[in-house]
Amino acid sequence: MTKNWENDAEYCALVEDLLATPEVQKLANYKQHIHSNRLEHSISVSYRSYLWAKKWHVDASACGRAGLLHDLFYYDWHTTKFDEGSHAYMHPRIACKNAEKITTLNKVEKDIIIKHMWGATLAMPRYKESYIVTLVDKYCAIQESMAPFSQNLRKKWHHMFAKQSV
Ligand SMILES: [Fe+2]
Ligand SMILES: [Fe+2]
Repeated sequence: MTKNWENDAEYCALVEDLLATPEVQKLANYKQHIHSNRLEHSISVSYRSYLWAKKWHVDASACGRAGLLHDLFYYDWHTTKFDEGSHAYMHPRIACKNAEKITTLNKVEKDIIIKHMWGATLAMPRYKESYIVTLVDKYCAIQESMAPFSQNLRKKWHHMFAKQSV
């Protein structure tokens, strides 16, 4: 989970209307990766993508807002199966439809949401912003699956180092 996003007034102003909706808030009821719920994951993807977009002078607003909405779906992806296609194919389309019920998406934001599973699905992102969000999504997924493992590793490392320096 990305720390400090709450202290970033510019970011908060960008997403506060979306964050305040029950549709976004109820993402907290769904487990996403091993150590995250879907709301935590969505904020992490949104805020990290927003920061990268600012750094690279591309559309930070689209990255922040569509990043927050990229997984706006309400089922357990570990157990739910679709006849129409895989979870990787289906959930970006479901998220896009759900997002359009609470806000107006521009063409960049739609592309970000629909293409965020690039790699698992074939459709190529059309914009730099879509590449940022799909890469950040993968990074966050790995981090949220490994968090305690990497924390343990860090603790062990410090412990070893402390012993050696005595
Ligand atoms: Fe997703
Ligand atoms: Fe995601």
